[in-house]
Amino acid sequence: MKIFIDTANLDMIKEINSWGILDGVTTNPSLIAKEGTDTRTRVKEIAGIVDVPISAEAMSLDAEGMIKEGRELASIHENINVKLPMSIEALKATKVLSGEGIDVNMTLIFSPQQALLAAKAGARYVSPFVGRLDDIGLYGTEILEQVIGIFFNYGFDTEVIAASIRGPVHVLEAASMGCDIATIPYNVLLQMVSHPKTDEGIQNFIKDYEKSKKK
Ligand code: G3P
Repeated sequence: MKIFIDTANLDMIKEINSWGILDGVTTNPSLIAKEGTDTRTRVKEIAGIVDVPISAEAMSLDAEGMIKEGRELASIHENINVKLPMSIEALKATKVLSGEGIDVNMTLIFSPQQALLAAKAGARYVSPFVGRLDDIGLYGTEILEQVIGIFFNYGFDTEVIAASIRGPVHVLEAASMGCDIATIPYNVLLQMVSHPKTDEGIQNFIKDYEKSKKK
């Protein structure tokens, strides 16, 4: 499974890239606002530090505006793909942008039917939001299994990005289902590394090593 980081923070991106496990970066308007910058500036900076796909979200709500913004964002760097929130206008824009070789990440996907339409329109990625489905009392990761099954049935090459990941169990379920990608917040990546028995084991090895040195 490919691991993307879901952040617009440069230090976090640099740190996770240094682990040797980073396959991509996703941003959204809320993550960009948190950094006190704008999408164009920040995705250009990200493209300067990592050589992986980077999602940048377009803000227009009509197809014409999405296409214009999408072309502008994609022209910033070859690694940039355009995030469009699911709608009829976004489907129209996806058809045009994908026809021009610009990758689209269809975001705010909350049903497998939306994902099917996005794939048919030519989206390179779909991003089902599992955490926000949990938030309304549903079993969020179920949508991943459904979308993966539909794409398999019809041979779509659209990749499924598990998004709105809130903890390591979401990652475990996405990976167990064969999800192509998970876009993971920094704090969850840290949680995935640690285990109390690992920490305990390291401490015990250090103690025993120190003892053996004294003999
Ligand atoms: O990738 C989408 C993600 O940023 C949304 O996460 O936690 O705001 O639902 P969250």
